[in-house]
Amino acid sequence: MEPLKNMPKLTYADEKREVEFSEAQSILEISNENQVEHLHVCGGLGRCSTCRVQILDGLENCSERSQKEQLIADKLDFPDDVRLACQTLLSGDAKIRKLFKNKTDIKFAQAAMQSSGSIGSNKQVAILFADIEDFTPLSERLASFDVMYLLNKYFDFAGNIVMKNGGEINNYIGDAFLAIFGLDGEGDETFRAVKAGLELQSDLKNFASTVEENFDEEFKIRIGIHFGEAIIGMLGCRGTERLSVIGDTVNMAARAESANKEADTTMLITENAYNQIQDRVEVEDFIRTKLKGTSERITLYEIKSVKGESLVAKKHDALVKDGIKWTRAGASKDLSKENKIEFELDGDDVLLFRFNGDVRAVQNTCTHMNLPLSGGEIDENGHITCPFHGTSYCTKDGGVQKWCDGLPEDMPPENVQMMKSMKQVPLNTFNAIDYEGNIWVAKN
Ligand code: FES
Repeated sequence: MEPLKNMPKLTYADEKREVEFSEAQSILEISNENQVEHLHVCGGLGRCSTCRVQILDGLENCSERSQKEQLIADKLDFPDDVRLACQTLLSGDAKIRKLFKNKTDIKFAQAAMQSSGSIGSNKQVAILFADIEDFTPLSERLASFDVMYLLNKYFDFAGNIVMKNGGEINNYIGDAFLAIFGLDGEGDETFRAVKAGLELQSDLKNFASTVEENFDEEFKIRIGIHFGEAIIGMLGCRGTERLSVIGDTVNMAARAESANKEADTTMLITENAYNQIQDRVEVEDFIRTKLKGTSERITLYEIKSVKGESLVAKKHDALVKDGIKWTRAGASKDLSKENKIEFELDGDDVLLFRFNGDVRAVQNTCTHMNLPLSGGEIDENGHITCPFHGTSYCTKDGGVQKWCDGLPEDMPPENVQMMKSMKQVPLNTFNAIDYEGNIWVAKN
């Protein structure tokens, strides 16, 4: 490599650190030489994208994209200033921000690489927005401890109903919350959202009477539901990134919620949402109105009831069988050796698949570097191999079969030595059964 005339500097914006380098090197090499922590799950081979950085200054000092980088940049829709550190040679000063920092980021990168999605992806979802009626005056009449107690009880109550219908509460905004249906890709999102909304309103009667008994206060909520495309992606400042949903679909649900006030209703769904499920709901009434911030009049529907059940089974069902509490992880038809199910069981990431007629369930991260195992191959002996560094485990008892048997060929010998000498810890396994059309999982 050509020595550079002056010693150029690479600045790491987040770490507020500046290092010098003497020859044209890749950003990842500069990080490694200077002991700057920098994710590079594929070992710098231009395959994983976890080394990606944003070039804040000095894009003109970066090499052109290599062929490998171009492939990833096209697939993931990288803007010009997002570069793979392992593929970008620096020949002058630059300032960068590392975009991936932890295990969640690695999982996110892996999911994006396996799908056709980009850094953020567009998804058709149903959004349920719920707000407590006249909460501000209510909170002023109660002691602050009671306000927090009441809100937490309410969010617990609402969260259970949302989860039972396969949605998830994604955001709390004061006394309001936003729930998303459709992230699981199982379909029927609008029906599930509307069913959850109706159950929230009907079950709230019990909750509200407890509030009345204890606090002598009325407790009512208003709900708006919309179906449409939203941008789903990880958002947040360093260390607090979380899955977020943004776009007009969210705003429309919030506007439908606030239209309840004038219409004197408790739940309204937009035309888009109604069109998804019109044959499966009974309408009580409808209104034509112009929603806040929009110019067109639209129809909002007040739904009286839903007909039948959701076309997809409930996601978070529990079952007690043989004295064991099982949790439903998915539908039997969706599981095979190739089609694995990833599931979170009380905070543990679990990977399920079929092998020789059995349902097997193992911890979904390798014990070597905590990297996701979901992209790993399962061989004819039922051993799963970590796609990152080649550690393989028996999926029946979790025993280690091979340790770091697939390290990148160009990994420096000292790193190979360090990785191979790490303690060989077996993989956790879980109980799993196929029962009545569903896959159930339980801790051992
Ligand atoms: S380290 Fe994997 S792409 Fe750069």
